[in-house]
Amino acid sequence: MSDETHIIIGTGHGGVQLAASLRELGFSGRIVLIGEEPDLPYQRPPLSKGYLTGAVTAEGLLLRGAKFYEDRDIELLLGEPATLIDRAAKEVELRSGRRLRYDHLTLALGVRNRPLPVPGGELDGVFSVRSIDDSNRLREHIEAAENIVIIGGGFIGLELAGGAAKLGKKVTVVELAPRVMARAVTPSLSAFFEMAHRRRGVEVLTGTEVERLTGESDHVTGVVLKEGRHLPADIVLFGIGVVVNSELAEAAGLAVEDGIVVDELLQTSDPFISAIGDCANHPNVYAGSRIRLESVQNAVDQARCVAARLTGHPTPYADVPWFWSDQADLKLQMVGLPVGAERNILRGDREAESFSIFVFKAGRLIAVESVNRPADHMAVRTLMKLGIEVSEEEIDDPSFDLKAFAQAKRKAAVA
Ligand code: APR
Repeated sequence: MSDETHIIIGTGHGGVQLAASLRELGFSGRIVLIGEEPDLPYQRPPLSKGYLTGAVTAEGLLLRGAKFYEDRDIELLLGEPATLIDRAAKEVELRSGRRLRYDHLTLALGVRNRPLPVPGGELDGVFSVRSIDDSNRLREHIEAAENIVIIGGGFIGLELAGGAAKLGKKVTVVELAPRVMARAVTPSLSAFFEMAHRRRGVEVLTGTEVERLTGESDHVTGVVLKEGRHLPADIVLFGIGVVVNSELAEAAGLAVEDGIVVDELLQTSDPFISAIGDCANHPNVYAGSRIRLESVQNAVDQARCVAARLTGHPTPYADVPWFWSDQADLKLQMVGLPVGAERNILRGDREAESFSIFVFKAGRLIAVESVNRPADHMAVRTLMKLGIEVSEEEIDDPSFDLKAFAQAKRKAAVA
C-alpha cells in the first residue's frame, strides 16, 4: 500500500480519467479529485448538442456514477475550488482555507468561454454554454425564443445553430473570420458547412463584425452589425473561443504560455506537477510543434500518459488527435491535424452530405475530415495509430477499399 497522495485539480474528462487510470494501473495511495462545480463530474460536449435538444438526459451526462468513485476509493471534493498551490510545502489550498498535501499534483484545469467583448454583452437573454448550469438556463429560455442570433461560427456556435434550427427557430450565425471553424478545419470543409447550414435554413454571415447588442428593460432585443444591419433576437448565444484556466499555475510560478507549459511527458516546470487536457501546452508530434488541443481525446489520452508515468512506465505523449462535432444531422469527425495542408482528395459525395476530405502534405496523409462517413474516420485512426502510410494514389483510386486495408493492417499488427 502506497502512502503517496495524488491530487488532481479539475473534474473534466482528463481529471476523472487520470483517477481511474491510476487505480487501473495499481496505484494504491490516496487519490483526491478536486472540482469547483458541485455536480458529479459530467461530460461537456453534449451541453451544446444532445443535452440542449433533450436527446441526452442529466444522468446521461455523468462521466461515472457515484459508486465508481466509492468503489475505487477516489475522494471527490466537489464545489471546492482550489485557490492556491504552495509548491514549497507541496500543498493545495481550497477556498475554505483547508490545505491538502500532495506527493504529485496534476492540473486538469480546462478552459472557460471568452466573454463577449461588445456593448450589451451583459443583457439578460445572452448566453454561452460551458457548464450544466449554462445549458439548463439556455434550455429554459430557448423554448420561447423565435429569433436567435449566434455570435461565433466555431464548433460551439455551429452546434448550437444546428440544435436551434432543429427546434424550429430562426437562426443567424455571425462569424468574424472569413470562414467558419477556421481555427481547426480546411477551407473546403468550412465551405461545405456554411452551405449545409444554409440549406437547413440558418443564415450564416462570415467576415461580419458585431458592433453592439440592443436591449429593452435589460433584456436583449437584437444585434447591430458594423455594416449597420440590425438583427432582431429574442436570445443571443455566443461561442467565440476560450481562455485557459492557467491562473493557479501562473500564481505558483509555473511556466505558462498559451496554456500551462509541459514537456513530452506532460510534466510542468515543476517535476511534482503535471498538466493535462485543454489547459496543457505540449509538444505534439502530429502538429510538429507545441500546441494546445481542446478535445476529449487529448484530455483522456494525456491522463493515461500521466498515470503510466506515475506508476513507473514513462512514455512520451504521442496519441493520434481526433475530434468530433455534431451539427444538426451532420456528424463531423476529424483525425490528425491539417497543419500545412498541400493537397485535398475527396472520397464520397459532398452533395449527398457523406464524404471525407483526405489532407496530404509532402505526399503524406496528415488529416482526414469526415462528414457522415464514420468508416473512413475509424480506418484512418487505425492506420495513423499503427504508423502505416496510405498513398495519394490509393486514396485517389475509387476502387481502393480503405476499410478493408485498415482492418488487414490491424489484424497483422495484433498477430
Ligand atoms: N464575433 C464573431 N465571431 C467571433 C468573434 C467575434 N467577436 N470572436 C471570435 N469569433 C469566432 C472565431 O473566428 C471562431 O470561428 O468564434 C469562433 C470560435 O470558435 P472556436 O475557437 O472553435 O471556439 P468555440 O466554438 O467557442 O468552442 C470553444 O470548446 O467545446 C470546445 O471544442 C470546442 O475547442 C472548442 C471550445
